[in-house]
Amino acid sequence: MSGVGQLVFDQDAAEQFDLRYRTRDMVRRRALVRDALGARPGDRILDVGCGPGFAIAELVDQVGTTGSIVGVDRSPQMLATAARRCAAFPNVMLHQADVAALPLDDAAFDRALCVQVLEFVPDVAAALGELHRVVRPGGRVVVWDVDWSTVSWHSPEPARMQRVLQAWDEHLTHPALPRTLAAQLRSVGFEGVEMVGYAFTTADLDPDTYAATVFHFVSQFVAGRCGLSAADVAAWVAEQRELDQRGEFSFACIQFCFSATRP
Ligand SMILES: C[S@@+](CC[C@H](N)C(=O)[O-])C[C@H]1O[C@@H](n2cnc3c(N)ncnc32)[C@H](O)[C@@H]1O
Repeated sequence: MSGVGQLVFDQDAAEQFDLRYRTRDMVRRRALVRDALGARPGDRILDVGCGPGFAIAELVDQVGTTGSIVGVDRSPQMLATAARRCAAFPNVMLHQADVAALPLDDAAFDRALCVQVLEFVPDVAAALGELHRVVRPGGRVVVWDVDWSTVSWHSPEPARMQRVLQAWDEHLTHPALPRTLAAQLRSVGFEGVEMVGYAFTTADLDPDTYAATVFHFVSQFVAGRCGLSAADVAAWVAEQRELDQRGEFSFACIQFCFSATRP
């Protein structure tokens, strides 16, 4: 996971996501997404970049037996995890595909969600164009991404902290995608675009927080990047654990929920 390239959604990542997406902050995030999506009984829902399938499993009750949910992800390991999670639901279908080339019919869905996926995707316009194509006229999309430039993370060694965050920016394609998403949604044809920011903050390294999940992935990812040696990363990890023990840990970031309608 370190050295070159972006975060890879392999078996190890699938196991980590399966574990960490059960935490309180991720449960909160999915509840916010469900509120924005407003699924109703009988709806046909698409979850693009469905990952381990938590959102699908939680939406099944809302759409009922007359509705259906399709999950798409590029990673076979993520899809295998989602398949296990959704095995009991006959109205859930999963496909391996790229968001920029969906193997799905035009106007086939009432609603679509795409949560923390587009920030990894090189051609965001193509991906949004696909979402627009597969949602019916009057249908709704919810797109959620993190603006990593909003991270405010306390360290008594700010220069090293800065390098850690710079190195972490290499885990994805667009570290500050929410800044342009509203305009990009409009330019592919969506209307009624709304943007809401949610702060994820914590003053301790409680494993149930988004901070703890980010801390895990950052500590695995950044060695060998931006001049950070394994020893530098180990020292930063130790520093953060000591701050937590002294009651001085502090993390905040803003995640953005966009909703829009196809006219
Ligand atoms: C951070 S996870 C989010 C998973 C899920 N949306 C959730 O919130 O629980 C990102 C997911 O997007 C998938 N992904 C990344 N790029 C993709 C692409 N171009 N097409 C389809 N899926 C993609 C990854 O395999 C991974 O499962």
